Amino acid sequence: MSNEYLLFRPITFRGVTLPNRIVLSPMAMYVAEEAALNDFHMTHYGKFAMGGVGLVIVEQTAVCRRGRITNGCLGLWSEEQLPAFRRLTDLVHGFGSKAAIQINHGGRKASAQRAWQGNGALTAEDLARGEELWQPEGPSDLPFAEGWPVPEAMTLDRIGQIRQEFVDTALLSERAGFDIIELHLAHGYLLQSFLTPLANKRTDAYGGSLENRMRLPLEIARDLRAALSDDTPIFARISATDWVEGGWTLEDSVVLAQRLKEVGVDLIDCSSGGNLLRGATNSNLARGPLYQVPFAEEVRRCANVPTMAVGMIRTGAEAESVLRDGRADLVAIGRQMLFNPFWAQHYAQELGQDPGFSRWPEPYGWWLSKWAKALASA
Ligand SMILES: Cc1cc2nc3c(=O)[nH]c(=O)nc-3n(C[C@H](O)[C@H](O)[C@H](O)COP(=O)(O)O)c2cc1C
Repeated sequence: MSNEYLLFRPITFRGVTLPNRIVLSPMAMYVAEEAALNDFHMTHYGKFAMGGVGLVIVEQTAVCRRGRITNGCLGLWSEEQLPAFRRLTDLVHGFGSKAAIQINHGGRKASAQRAWQGNGALTAEDLARGEELWQPEGPSDLPFAEGWPVPEAMTLDRIGQIRQEFVDTALLSERAGFDIIELHLAHGYLLQSFLTPLANKRTDAYGGSLENRMRLPLEIARDLRAALSDDTPIFARISATDWVEGGWTLEDSVVLAQRLKEVGVDLIDCSSGGNLLRGATNSNLARGPLYQVPFAEEVRRCANVPTMAVGMIRTGAEAESVLRDGRADLVAIGRQMLFNPFWAQHYAQELGQDPGFSRWPEPYGWWLSKWAKALASA
C-alpha cells in the first residue's frame, strides 16, 4: 500500500500508533439517559470506525454528575459506568481504529438544553418534560449569559476535588481501553472558563494574571500525566481565541500550548469560541472553510508542539493539503463525517490509496472490488 498521501500515513504518539491521520472530531449527541452509553452511541461510534478513521474521539464526557452540560450527556465517574465504555472501545478497536475520550466539566454552561432543544438555559417547559435542573459551578458567580443560572463560585476545596475527578475519569477511561485521553479546555466549559478573563474574575491564585488563570488546567494536565501510563497520550482541545477584544487570544494559546507541552501533553487540538452568547463569538461551528486551520498552524509553529486542525475541512484533498503544508499533524472532521461516515474510505478511494478496497471490512471490500471492476469494464 502506497503512503503517498500523508493523510493515510500512520503516526505515533507515545505508545499509540494511529493507522492514519483522519480523526472523528468529538461531537456530543445528547442522547444519554442518566449519563449512560446506549445502542445509539454504539451504532454511532462503530460506524466511524468501520468508516476507516484513524482515531474516534468520543464526545465530551462528564467527570462528575454536576459537570454534565445537559441531561443527555455521557459521564464516566464510577466503576458501574466502565463496562459499557469497554464495549465501545472493543467495538472501535475491532475495526482497526484507535479510541480517545474527551473528558469534560460543563462549568457555568452546565444544566442547559440539548442543542436541538434550544441550546440555551433550561426553561419551565423543559422541566415539565422531566429535565433535571441543577446549579452549575464555575470560577466566579458570573452567569454565561442573561437568563442562565448563576454558577456557584468554586472554593479551593472544590477545586482540589475537581482535580481528583479529572484524574479518576482519566484512569477509568484508560481501564476502559481508551488509547488517548483528550482534556476539554475549550468552548466555555469549566476549564476554559478558568482560562479566559471573560469568565474568571477570581482574586486568588486561580484568577487575575495569565499564569493564575492557566493554573487549574495545567495542574490537571500534570495530574493526568502523573496518573496515566507513560504510553497513554494526552491531547488537549483549546479554544484558540474567544473572538472578542478583552478575551482569550491566540498569543495566550501559544503560551498555554508551550506550558501544556512541558507538563506532558502530546497534541493541541485547536478549536475556538464558545465563551460568549453574543452572535458568532459563541460559535465554534460556522466561519467558513478551514476557518480554524490558522490556529493549528500558529500553535504548531510557535509552541513547537503537534496540533490537530478542525473546522469545516471538507474533502480529502483539503485535509491532505493541511498536513502537507505543515499546518497540523492530524485533521479532525465533524459534520462532514455525520453526513458521510465513510468519509475516510471514500477519500482513500478517490485519492487512489485503496484500489483493492482492502481498507474496508472484508464483507464489504470483497464485493466492492468486484463491483468496481464490473463498472470499469461496463
Ligand atoms: C453535533 C455536534 C456536537 C459537538 N460536540 C462537541 C464536543 O462534544 N466536544 C467538542 O470539543 N466539540 C464539539 N463539537 C465541535 C466539533 O468537534 C467540531 O470542532 C466542529 O463541528 C467544527 O468541525 P466541522 O466543521 O468539521 O464540523 C460539536 C459539534 C457538533 C456539530
